Amino acid sequence: MRPTIAQFPAARMRRARQTPAIRALTRQNALSVDDLIWPIFVRSGEGIEEPIASMPGVFRRSVDKVVDAAREAADLGIPAICIFPYTGIEERTEDCAGAWDPQNHANRAIRAIKAAVPEIAVMTDVALDTYNINGHDGFVEDGEIVNDRTIVALVKMTLAQAEAGADIIGPSDMMDGRIGAMRTALEAAGHQNVMILSYAAKYASAFYGPFRDAVGASGALVGDKKTYQMDPANSDEALRLVERDLSEGADMVMVKPGLPYLDICRRVKDTFGAPTYAYQVSGEYSMIKAAGQNGWIDEERVMMESLMAFKRAGCDGILTYFAPAAARVLAAQR
Ligand code: PBG
Repeated sequence: MRPTIAQFPAARMRRARQTPAIRALTRQNALSVDDLIWPIFVRSGEGIEEPIASMPGVFRRSVDKVVDAAREAADLGIPAICIFPYTGIEERTEDCAGAWDPQNHANRAIRAIKAAVPEIAVMTDVALDTYNINGHDGFVEDGEIVNDRTIVALVKMTLAQAEAGADIIGPSDMMDGRIGAMRTALEAAGHQNVMILSYAAKYASAFYGPFRDAVGASGALVGDKKTYQMDPANSDEALRLVERDLSEGADMVMVKPGLPYLDICRRVKDTFGAPTYAYQVSGEYSMIKAAGQNGWIDEERVMMESLMAFKRAGCDGILTYFAPAAARVLAAQR
């Protein structure tokens, strides 16, 4: 629908921009702390907060420090955090058995957070890349990333996370058929309230570079992920993937990366009306940080503008490494 508009001077669009009060009154979208999911990295050890060189201000934390971070997030009003494990090359194997070990760092972190900060929602990562010797999200056989055998492992991983107390399972692997298999297994195991936020439209993106450093996958990855992650040239395929994942039992869907894919966010929201999230990924974060640290942009304003863009594109929430910084800005604005 095209809005009716009078001719100048009956219509003067600048009337709606004249003062802060009028601008507030006519503002269409709002960013709230309720929209934020904070991804954090967990590693072995105790008392450790290890900086990640390519992501200034982001750390790999031992489980005790992850609990502190969860408390900080809850105090800021952030509704959810998302746990990503860091594994050294010596912790990785070809059979990826660490992925469904109830005692891996991620599952220990989930239990510790649920015990200490029960009010925050905990989201997980389901994919084999952080446990795989070759850095891929699925098992590799003769150079091929195999689908169906990987699903069996992803289901085991899902159940271990649900057992540990996860609220939201986050499959980031892009195998076909995994949502249905995970949903069926969760129902059968009595985890009917555990949600699935599917990385439904995940692109094979160069913007993941700093994340792969953060989780220890950069050196490990053999080849690329183009046989399972989407081609950045495609748009209709994203809608088919979202529809498929919703039909298999996903509660929420994600588009990833974020800012370069806002057109996809808008199409997904308009087409399905499902809870829709975007992941402002590591490369997006690092670019803003780097330019900010060089004094080339106003980091805080660019951060807030980039997050508002997701709301404008129809997203219900954003996974962002800026979550605590943005929450602080929002609190100061009130
Ligand atoms: C892999 C995974 C990736 C990210 C989240 N889960 C990287 C990849 O697909 O290689 C990227 C997140 C980011 O860049 O911030 N399971």
